[in-house]
Amino acid sequence: MAEQPEKTLFFERVAILGLGLIGGSLALALKSSGVAQHVVAFDLDQTQLELGLSSGVIDEWCESAADTVLEADLIVLAVPVMAVATVLAEIKPVLQSKSILTDVGSVKGYVLEAVEDVFGQVPENFVAGHPIAGSERHGVAASDEKLFNNHKVIITPLKSTNPEAVSAIETMWQCAGASVVMMDPAHHDQVLAQTSHLPHLLAYALIDTLSAQGDSLEIFEYAAGGLRDFSRIAASDPTMWRDIFRSNSDAVLSILNQYQHELSTLQALIEDGDFDQLSAVFARSKKARDHFSEVLARRETNKT
Ligand SMILES: NC(=O)c1ccc[n+]([C@@H]2O[C@H](COP(=O)([O-])OP(=O)(O)OC[C@H]3O[C@@H](n4cnc5c(N)ncnc54)[C@H](O)[C@@H]3O)[C@@H](O)[C@H]2O)c1
Repeated sequence: MAEQPEKTLFFERVAILGLGLIGGSLALALKSSGVAQHVVAFDLDQTQLELGLSSGVIDEWCESAADTVLEADLIVLAVPVMAVATVLAEIKPVLQSKSILTDVGSVKGYVLEAVEDVFGQVPENFVAGHPIAGSERHGVAASDEKLFNNHKVIITPLKSTNPEAVSAIETMWQCAGASVVMMDPAHHDQVLAQTSHLPHLLAYALIDTLSAQGDSLEIFEYAAGGLRDFSRIAASDPTMWRDIFRSNSDAVLSILNQYQHELSTLQALIEDGDFDQLSAVFARSKKARDHFSEVLARRETNKT
C-alpha cells in the first residue's frame, strides 16, 4: 500500500512548466488531493495549455515561464530533460527565495548540472525528483490523476538541500499516491539506465529491425503476445527518449556493453551448437524472472 503522508501540505499556487503527461497528471493529483489550491502552467505548445484549461487539469495559463512562477510557492519543471536549463534561465530573474522547486526528469545527474550551470550552485530549495510511473503516451490529453498511485518516486536531494524543501516534496508525492525513496543522483542514473533506458533502446531496436524485413506487415500481423509485450515501449515519444540517451550516455553505454557481450555469447552458443549451455543460460534467466514475478505479485497484493 502507498505510504500515507504523515504531514499535511498545502500550496496556494503551483506552477507547472511543461504541461504534458507528467505535468498534467501531477496537476490533477495535487488538485484532487487538496494539496494545490490554484495550478498555473506554461508550455511552449499553446494547444496543451488550452486543452489543460478546458479539461480542468489547470486553473490558469500564462504567456511565459517567468509570469507563471510569480508568487508560486511550488514550481515543477516537467519539460524534457534537455529543456530544463532553458526554462530555469527564463525564470531565474523573477524567482523568489520562498519558492520550492522540483523536477520530474528521467535523468538526475544532467538535470543537477544544468541547475548548477544556471544558478552557480544548486539552490537549497531545489529538490530533484523522478516519478517511476508513466506511459508511452504523451501530452496533457494523456493526464491521469492516478498515474502515480502505488508507484515509486525517487528524489535525489544533495547535502546542501534544505530539509524542509525535501520534506515538502516527499509529502507532495505521497499525497499524489506514490511512495518516495531517496537516492544519490549518480546511482539513480545507473539504476535507471539498467531498468528503463536499456529496455527502451532494445524495444526501439527490435521494432526497427523487424520493420526493415521484407514483409514487415506479415511480421506484425502474426505477432504473438511476446512481441507485443516486449515492444510496447517502442511507441514512446522519440524526443523524450533522445534527450534521455543524450543526458545519460555513460551509464547507458556501460550496461549496453554488457548486454552486447551477453548477446555475442548466446550467438556463439547457437553457432557452436552448444544448446545445453544455451539452456543453462535460459534456466538461470527464468529463475531470476520468476523471482521478479513473485516480488511483483507481492507488491500487487500489498496494493489492495
Ligand atoms: N513519460 C514518462 O513515462 C515519464 C516518466 C517519468 C518521468 N518523465 C519525465 O517527465 C518529463 C516530461 O515528460 P512527459 O512524458 O510529460 O512529456 P510530454 O511530451 O507529455 O510533455 C512535455 C511538455 O513540455 C513542453 N516543453 C518542451 N520544452 C519546453 C520549454 N522549453 N518550455 C515550456 N514547455 C516545454 C512540451 O511542449 C510538452 O508539452 C521529462 O523530463 C521526462 O523525462 C517522463
